[in-house]
Amino acid sequence: MEYGPAPESTKEAQAWLEQHGRTFGLFIDNQWSEPGELFASTNPADAAKLADLTQATGSDVDRAVAAARAAQPGWQALGGHGRAKVMYSLARLMQKHARLFAVLETLDNGKTIRETRDVDLPLVARHFYYHAGWAQLQAEEFADYRAVGVVGQIVPWNFPLLMLSWKIAPAMAAGNTIVFKPAEFTSLTAMLFAEICVQAGVPAGVVNIVTGDGRVGEAIVNHPGIDKLAFTGSTEVGRLIRVATAGSGKKLSLELGGKSPFIVFDDADLDAAVEGLVDSIWFNQGQVCCAGSRLLVQESVQDKFLAKLRARMDKLTLGSPLDKSMDIGALVDPVQQQRIAGLVDSARAEGCEVYQPKCEIPANGSWFPPTLITGASTSAAVAQAEIFGPVLVAMSFRTPPEAVQLANNTVYGLAACVWTENISLALDVAPQIKAGVVWINTANQFDAACGFGGYRESGFGREGGREGMYEYLTAKSEDARPASPVVEAKAKAKAAAPAAGGAFAIDRTAKLYIGGKQARPDGAYSRAIHGADGAFIAEVGEGNRKDIRNAVEAAHKAGGWAKATSHNRAQVLYYIAENLAARGEEFAARIAAMTGSKNAEKEVQASIERLFYYAAWADKYDGLAHQPPMHGITVALNEPVGVIGIVCPNEAPLLGFISLVAPAIALGNRVVVVPSEAHPLSATDLYQVFDTSDLPDGVVNIITGSADELARTLATHSDIDAVWRHDGSAEGCAEVERLSATSLKRTWVGGAKGRDWYSTAQSGGRAVLAHASQVKNVWIPYGV
Ligand code: NAI
Repeated sequence: MEYGPAPESTKEAQAWLEQHGRTFGLFIDNQWSEPGELFASTNPADAAKLADLTQATGSDVDRAVAAARAAQPGWQALGGHGRAKVMYSLARLMQKHARLFAVLETLDNGKTIRETRDVDLPLVARHFYYHAGWAQLQAEEFADYRAVGVVGQIVPWNFPLLMLSWKIAPAMAAGNTIVFKPAEFTSLTAMLFAEICVQAGVPAGVVNIVTGDGRVGEAIVNHPGIDKLAFTGSTEVGRLIRVATAGSGKKLSLELGGKSPFIVFDDADLDAAVEGLVDSIWFNQGQVCCAGSRLLVQESVQDKFLAKLRARMDKLTLGSPLDKSMDIGALVDPVQQQRIAGLVDSARAEGCEVYQPKCEIPANGSWFPPTLITGASTSAAVAQAEIFGPVLVAMSFRTPPEAVQLANNTVYGLAACVWTENISLALDVAPQIKAGVVWINTANQFDAACGFGGYRESGFGREGGREGMYEYLTAKSEDARPASPVVEAKAKAKAAAPAAGGAFAIDRTAKLYIGGKQARPDGAYSRAIHGADGAFIAEVGEGNRKDIRNAVEAAHKAGGWAKATSHNRAQVLYYIAENLAARGEEFAARIAAMTGSKNAEKEVQASIERLFYYAAWADKYDGLAHQPPMHGITVALNEPVGVIGIVCPNEAPLLGFISLVAPAIALGNRVVVVPSEAHPLSATDLYQVFDTSDLPDGVVNIITGSADELARTLATHSDIDAVWRHDGSAEGCAEVERLSATSLKRTWVGGAKGRDWYSTAQSGGRAVLAHASQVKNVWIPYGV
């Protein structure tokens, strides 16, 4: 049976545009500015112009930031209940005007009305309701945290209003004020939202909206008055933002691209999986960061599954997005259509088979038919690049391990789907996939209560859930951090240059510690370490790039540590503490000799306590069971980040080392540590403690030498997942952030400020554990 056309009326939306003279200024301090230099927003389904928008200037961004800054204390002072009431009112108004928003979004973006009406708008309202709740509970549930301040938020065009709500709702709830930039293709629903803010009683300056292209984004990113940036968009721009903000102290979350696997095992309900796949890759024309764009199907059911899929593709309807019976609408802009066509043509040229159902493509606007590519090699461009269109690339696998290996064969790590009727298999595979979200027997589920965000080059930070709230909060203990202590210049200067005759002196040198073994430095150089009185104490190896490489390899080989039980990891930490205690006097004497500290004994005791502290946490840093509105559960797992490079502080050389290494290994990470450059000997003395504490080889690797040089190597190494630097070097920390952009590693840097390593508030707690972990949300629907 054919469906007749069922067009949604655009009368109200067109009237709203007319009411504004189809021209918009900027929304700053609850006022509309006079329109400035204009650019057009068009309907991608028929290329008709909808309205003109203002390209904001640098001084417009200045005004927006100033308004946000001025409004922040008042917004904070309104209190959790005050903010909750405003946000609740926003949610109500969004619901009331849902149809107008949905039609406007469809006109502006080209996505089907079925999606804007049934998916985007309900989720938008849900985000404001849910986060109104966090505002209400903030004082109780986040008592040790405060709002970050003024946040800059930049979003793409694929879910214009939904991304707005993901960004603005948690930021407002936490007490921040906002400078928001929609994507230049799709700004209209943000303009309508601005009006709703005024109606809902959002105080002036809390939400400011500036429109324009990437230049406006850059002005926000570089603005000194911004305390935090939240970006969703391409990995390429995410990298630029990481570089631009390096060393600025701005908090950053990046939600970037993906090439998400959709895994179908042979025992899956194949019909349900086909429907899941339709949602996964053809929802929003595939312009979805977490689109299931790589089908991995078990070889034994491949032919059957692909036959079902092709038959289903033949039934997909493509046409006017305002028609309620359409499955596939228009692409956002001709530029995307050309990009997608180029990638599909290249696959054809490489001999891939390209299947597209026969469908009528409208004469105007930008369109692309649903497409299935088979026969691509795993390294083909279509198998690796984010196509961001309705194009599925199918491959097969034989065994579960092969499925996992193929799933992880990408630089991205945003999402994955696993389809099988075998719960043991599903729950075995889900943790092995490097992705921030795993959907089991379902696809593309989103909710305000569940965290969303990536691993690897898909970015860092989470949106939604308790985990998402932390992105807009700062631990109060950060405010109490002292000025950076000045490391004794003398000791540092003497330590800097490799000792003359180092190669000769090597046998008297404390070696490096790699894979559980003491190793000579590759360069065969060493450096002299002097005490507080300037006298020579010992030499340590001068580690180089090759040593780091070996250490990283050893750390990867120790992957079993991540799978060890948390009870087991805790036991090892307790054992290290016990063995350190047994040699407490020796360590205290070493610290005193190196630093001249009168508190050396206290430092050893504090280090032992810190080991106990993180041993205690190892099996208590539980994840969460979120309850989104579905018949099922979403389990938020705290997973280790992987291999972490750590550059330790010079002050408190033992306590600083332990305070960084212990939380990392407690949660299952493996580490490559550069101990204090000036006072490394209490770290090299630990080798024997580790050797006698059942710590598996390769979990902790220690490379002594130049902090700057080794940090640089850690930050650029492609197999390291995160770098922490806490030696008080502002320039060094900035460099780590800048260099980490290449592979988008996570970073945790102390900057120029110091840290009271004795204070658990400053050097312990969930804020530290959050750096040592990343949250994976596994969606598990109940029932059949
Ligand atoms: P984009 O990353 O350039 O744009 C996203 C947002 O960033 C827009 O608001 C844009 O104005 C802004 N922007 C651009 N340059 C900036 C800069 N230097 N500094 C600050 N902000 C800047 O993405 P675009 O060009 O719209 O799409 C290109 C490709 O990126 C797509 O084909 C797709 O592959 C990918 N993409 C991925 C998205 C995701 O959610 N993962 C979303 C949008 C695009």
